[in-house]
Amino acid sequence: MACVATSSSRPYHLVIFGASGFTGQFVVEEVARTASEGPDGSLKWAVAGRSKQKLEKVLEQAAEVLGKPELRSEVDVIVADVGEPDSLAAMCKQAVIILNCVGPYRFYGEPVVKACVENGAHHIDISGEPQFLEGMQLTYNSQAAEKGVYIIESCGFDSIPADMGVLYTREQFKGTLTAVESFLTVKAGPDGGCIHDGTWQSAIYGLADSPKLQSLRRQFNHKPLPVVGTKLKRRGLLFFSDDIQQYAVLFMGSDPSVVKRSQRYLMEEHQATPVQYGAYAGIGGIINAIKLMFVGMLFWFFVKFSFGRDLLIKYPEVFSLGFFTKAGPSRKQIEGSSFQFAFHGVGYTEGQDPSLGTPDGKIRTLIQGPESGYVATPIAMVQAALTVLMEPTALPKTGGVYTPGAAFAKTTLIDRLNKHGIQFSVI
Ligand SMILES: NC(=O)c1ccc[n+]([C@@H]2O[C@H](COP(=O)([O-])OP(=O)(O)OC[C@H]3O[C@@H](n4cnc5c(N)ncnc54)[C@H](OP(=O)(O)O)[C@@H]3O)[C@@H](O)[C@H]2O)c1
Repeated sequence: MACVATSSSRPYHLVIFGASGFTGQFVVEEVARTASEGPDGSLKWAVAGRSKQKLEKVLEQAAEVLGKPELRSEVDVIVADVGEPDSLAAMCKQAVIILNCVGPYRFYGEPVVKACVENGAHHIDISGEPQFLEGMQLTYNSQAAEKGVYIIESCGFDSIPADMGVLYTREQFKGTLTAVESFLTVKAGPDGGCIHDGTWQSAIYGLADSPKLQSLRRQFNHKPLPVVGTKLKRRGLLFFSDDIQQYAVLFMGSDPSVVKRSQRYLMEEHQATPVQYGAYAGIGGIINAIKLMFVGMLFWFFVKFSFGRDLLIKYPEVFSLGFFTKAGPSRKQIEGSSFQFAFHGVGYTEGQDPSLGTPDGKIRTLIQGPESGYVATPIAMVQAALTVLMEPTALPKTGGVYTPGAAFAKTTLIDRLNKHGIQFSVI
């Protein structure tokens, strides 16, 4: 399959923007680890951000962690700031793909997408913010299509496992899959675990602004997705799941919105039967359920007021009971953590008519992988980028703003993830 080459005017396959952020540093390491999988066995890449000093420190650290001293001298540093459009344009002109790790995306994302579209660079992000994601689709889809630029969103733990997991489950089902519920469980090792407060901030501002998301969605003027077969029942906010043998809650992240957008695209472009989707997360025993309810109520209340948001942002450890921290997880904590995504699908076996009665077929699939935020996310982001570089003819025919499911449905992304420790299987 033809791959995308660099040129003298566009010298880098990948530029990691926000490389000095908490997540960015792990994306740098993942790119360095997988550089030999790039076109012609060598990926050309650079790091970018607003502080040259911080970027050099990140390269220094990656060189040490990976035992690759050459990173210090061989990887170029580009200084670019979201507030300076010329610097973004100069960065985008040099790259085939920008891996954008600068968040919260609601504040910093749009100028980067705009610069990519205007300067012909593809863009891959790890945003879990539906308002940003859907807003970019609304504003830039046509321009990106005209320019042949792929803006591929949500390529981290939000929402590659959920989106590709639904596609995988459908592929493995013999018949017409009509509904899937997913149950996410995250395990910490003996040292515990937490999430860096970059993600906490994205969640705070996202929830505070959720009414705007509704009005943004109305602008798409979409008809509701048709329900094929029996309608999937929504479960309660908190319930005990016999399937995963623990309490579970409705998953509040961006996965349902991303999966729905992919299903709409695949129905419109490939006449695929849309799959209904419900997302849940396991939270453990009754003590955890009580703690989560308490923290959740506090969060809902504080997020409504600007003084409340200031407090939430100032004291993430206190308000999330240590789940989000300013320091982020230690490397030991990251190494000890893992995730499991279980998909429970139902549908109609071959020859059965979905308009007649309840589904007669079931399927269970599983995705298992390493720590979600800083191991699985960089793996997913980098493999998404390599797929764009190595399999351009398997991408949608025109550029545009795409979810992972829409962009990668016809590619080998799932095989690539399998080879890198994010494993898809049928149970
Ligand atoms: N999809 C997922 O599962 C997943 C997983 C992890 C993270 N994320 C998302 O990734 C984003 C980053 O999270 P994080 O924890 O890494 O946050 P972070 O440590 O605060 O990193 C933010 C990055 O943005 C850079 N930045 C801020 N303002 C900038 C500007 N004006 N110009 C250029 N760069 C600027 C920062 O640069 P400096 O270093 O110079 O301050 C830093 O590199 C968040 O939106 C988070 O939700 C998603």
